[in-house]
Amino acid sequence: MPATVVIGTQWGDEGKGKVVDFYAADSEMIIRFNGGNNAGHTIVVGGETVKLHLLPSGVMHKGKHVVIGNGVVVDPDVLLQEMDELAARGHAISHLSLSDRAHLIMPYHRTLDGIEERLKGNLAAGTTRRGIGPCYQDKAARFGLRAGDLLDLEETRRKLGIIVPMKQQVIDALGIEDDARPEIDDVYARCEAWAGRLEPHIEDTAVLINDALERGAQVLFEGAQGVHLDIDHGIYPFGTSSNTITGSACTGAGVPPTAIEEVVGVVKAYVSRVGAGPVPTEQKGDVGVHLREVGKEYGTTTGRPRRCGWLDLCLVRYSHMLCGLTSIALTKLDILSGLPKVRLCVAYKARGQTLKHPPADMRLFAECEPQYVELDGWADPGRDQWSRAAKEGMAALPKAARDYVSLIEEELEVPVTIVGVGPGREETVDLRG
Ligand code: GDP
Ligand code: IMO
Ligand code: MG
Repeated sequence: MPATVVIGTQWGDEGKGKVVDFYAADSEMIIRFNGGNNAGHTIVVGGETVKLHLLPSGVMHKGKHVVIGNGVVVDPDVLLQEMDELAARGHAISHLSLSDRAHLIMPYHRTLDGIEERLKGNLAAGTTRRGIGPCYQDKAARFGLRAGDLLDLEETRRKLGIIVPMKQQVIDALGIEDDARPEIDDVYARCEAWAGRLEPHIEDTAVLINDALERGAQVLFEGAQGVHLDIDHGIYPFGTSSNTITGSACTGAGVPPTAIEEVVGVVKAYVSRVGAGPVPTEQKGDVGVHLREVGKEYGTTTGRPRRCGWLDLCLVRYSHMLCGLTSIALTKLDILSGLPKVRLCVAYKARGQTLKHPPADMRLFAECEPQYVELDGWADPGRDQWSRAAKEGMAALPKAARDYVSLIEEELEVPVTIVGVGPGREETVDLRG
């Protein structure tokens, strides 16, 4: 059962899209299992940039089967737009399957996301406002609509007759402009339109995936967000509404834990965070500006500037504990070039104690002072040299950059097997044996 899971180990935007695209070359099936179009995964192939929000990052390889699992919340308008845009650019999808159990993001979920964010005061996470939280709320409360409902529109209309008036009352009570008030006929018309196009793709994807595993197909699971946005294990209440750890591939796609052989943790060479909450290693001065501007750290989904700082190994250590990483894909090493010194946080100090892991208590987390190991930085060796490293291996890189990678391996006791030295597919040092 050769299944590999790719997981973001920080706060999202680690470069999962690029890593999944890289691994997808050897995979038959690529599966999203959590989150929705709050994700923004970037792939750069042959100078062309593609930003994906719902479609798995295997779509830039021809002939792959891409699957949206039951754990994903799907905004059908976004999915259809993404499919159309790709087709218009000459990358029509060979085979797409959408789980009949995946919940649908409805227009009222987006409305409620905006209202709730406004009312939440300093509990607001700074969501992407894509309706993610409200859709997962309905899923847990058991009055959500699922992709499978689009196969029975009569029943869907009956359900909408119950759900939409409830949403109207909530929206009225919370107070919102009239034009955002959902109406049954409008919502139903949208469902009809979605059904017309999505019906051929909707099926029991758990059966599909397990059949593929059974016949020995290479299957790749693509995590969205990052471990520290996880609803249970992340920076509650500032994270997202789904589980983002390895185990989420099991619940969000319907496969047994024993199917998973490899877990690739994507670690960006520094941290970034979009939204509220403590970021102990955040750099607000020159270093922060360098990381944001050289690293182009602006949200793929919302365009918001990302908060940037030194690599925090306490976060990644915790992610390894939760996810059982078998290897690390280290991304954006090139972005650290030109900094005279580079730092890695190996522990926190707070209230007279040393902590090796991020605490659950956000007030304590906000007090955590990073304990750094400082290493020499390296001058930018130039694009040609990075490309040489991608072809010839790490020996072509400055020694200080290699020391940085070695320290990460030593601290975490996990091998770094992929090093990203640029956004392009080929700008990757492959250290797998
Ligand atoms: P994701 O959400 O984890 O898929 O990451 P995003 O796509 O939101 O953000 C990562 C950004 O970094 C994208 O613009 C990628 O093209 C870019 N990127 C990924 N890996 C590398 C790398 O190794 N070097 C550089 N310079 N850019 C990278
Ligand atoms: P990818 O897959 C970075 C953050 C939001 C917000 C919090 C909750 O591209 O790594 P939500 O809309 O999920 O209710 O927002 O989570 N967030 C992300 N940050 N990358 C992402 O996805 C994110 N998805 C959600 O900024 O703080
Ligand atoms: Mg992203």
